[in-house]
Amino acid sequence: MGRLIVVSNRAPSIDGSSDSGGLVVALKDALSKDGGLWIGGAPEQHENPSSELVLHHRPDFDVALFELEPELHDDYYLGYSNSVLWPAFHGRVDLIVVKPRYAAAYRQVAERLARQIAETVRDDDLIWVHDYQLIPLAHYLKALGVKCRIGFFLHIPLPDLQTFMAIPDWREMVKWLADYNLIGFQTRRDLANMITIFRHGLRGELRANGNIGINGREVAIGCFPISIDVQGFRRLAAEGAVATEPPPLPRLIGVDRLDYSKGLPQRLAGYETFLSKYPQFRSKVSLLQIAPPTRDDVDAYKDIRSELEHLSGKINGDFGTIDWTPVQYIHRAMPRDELAVLFRLSRVGLVTPLFDGMNLVAKEYVAAQDEADPGVLILSQFAGAAEEMTAALIINPHNPVGIAEAIKKALDMPLGERIERHTTLYAHLEGNDIARWSAAFLKRLRAPDDIGPDNVAR
Ligand code: ADP
Ligand code: G6P
Repeated sequence: MGRLIVVSNRAPSIDGSSDSGGLVVALKDALSKDGGLWIGGAPEQHENPSSELVLHHRPDFDVALFELEPELHDDYYLGYSNSVLWPAFHGRVDLIVVKPRYAAAYRQVAERLARQIAETVRDDDLIWVHDYQLIPLAHYLKALGVKCRIGFFLHIPLPDLQTFMAIPDWREMVKWLADYNLIGFQTRRDLANMITIFRHGLRGELRANGNIGINGREVAIGCFPISIDVQGFRRLAAEGAVATEPPPLPRLIGVDRLDYSKGLPQRLAGYETFLSKYPQFRSKVSLLQIAPPTRDDVDAYKDIRSELEHLSGKINGDFGTIDWTPVQYIHRAMPRDELAVLFRLSRVGLVTPLFDGMNLVAKEYVAAQDEADPGVLILSQFAGAAEEMTAALIINPHNPVGIAEAIKKALDMPLGERIERHTTLYAHLEGNDIARWSAAFLKRLRAPDDIGPDNVAR
């Protein structure tokens, strides 16, 4: 068997020092076999970037970095990836910023990267491309004569056809997608949108085996909900909690990148409604919101931090007392082990995105709980995770009263019901962890094109 070559915009660390992220853990085993390679963007930009991939050897697998000039990087990453595709794919067409140089940079990066990859790739290798930053890669690789099988996984949601068509080059985007052998999605919702978009954009036809027929060839598509290292995260939480004092009051917790898709103002509005409607809970609970800034050079992200500071300050001003601060707001990243303990010691996990590919925080919160006294997950109906995690309290983030009622229900929930819900959620997670996710995708990618999902054991 050939090598596995993983390609993503963010590369893993070259010394393995920050491997805690799910993807690296998921792919380490597959990459360590047969000399695997992870190709990713260099963490820093270069005025004179190398024209070749810059190779680093880790003990487990090789990492090859692609370097970009600062302006090209900004137009590709801050521009097209995060000012066009991220808002469009998350249903925020009002936030799309169209500039010809963004689209040009997006193509140029994929084309340049394809040339660099083509120099090292062999026909029996398997290439797995991750996420919206690199959609055109298969197109450029195939144009260069690369013959190996190429798969793509979309970590973010795929919007419906009308929203997708707001992307100025949407037809080209569909053609780029059709150049993959396999496209994986987080949810059935995304998969259904892909079928409609292929039908409309390329006269694609859904085949009996679940693949899409386009111009005489088949593109395999499938739903592969991503997950976490469930037992590893559970252990981290359980071991860390032994030496940690529980909080003085039952705690609600939210952990998110400071992104407009995460529904943070809506979460605070729900909490405010809860405190107004149920005054008996004042001074009896607290909300800890951890939200590190992200992509803060993109205009659409500039105001979120001050908006959140304003909202949490208002709740603290309106409801707080000398002895009680209703909202604690931290805008910093936390070490993973500390986060796991915070999840375990929180009575309620609040996950309220307006639209989210999966939302791993929801899964981490459940994995971290003490099964004898578990907390309750409140989960937005618009998170991909809601398709699987139906035993959570499912809410509509646009409705503050619904969020307030769910908070009340979670805090009042008897131990028996908490255990029942948690047992269901945990059992599903345990049977569907990140190792299973990557194995299922790779197995399908290795299978011949005309084999449908029913013929590939997951
Ligand atoms: P997204 O990929 O859109 O950021 P997810 O919820 O799927 O959303 O994944 C976020 C990941 O980042 C989770 O593993 C989560 O634990 C981690 N994370 C989010 N906020 C923080 C933080 N403040 N400190 C450390 N890790 C964080
Ligand atoms: C989401 C995207 C990833 C991205 C991550 C962090 O999870 O799906 O592709 O890497 O957010 O965003 P950043 O822009 O910092 O890489």
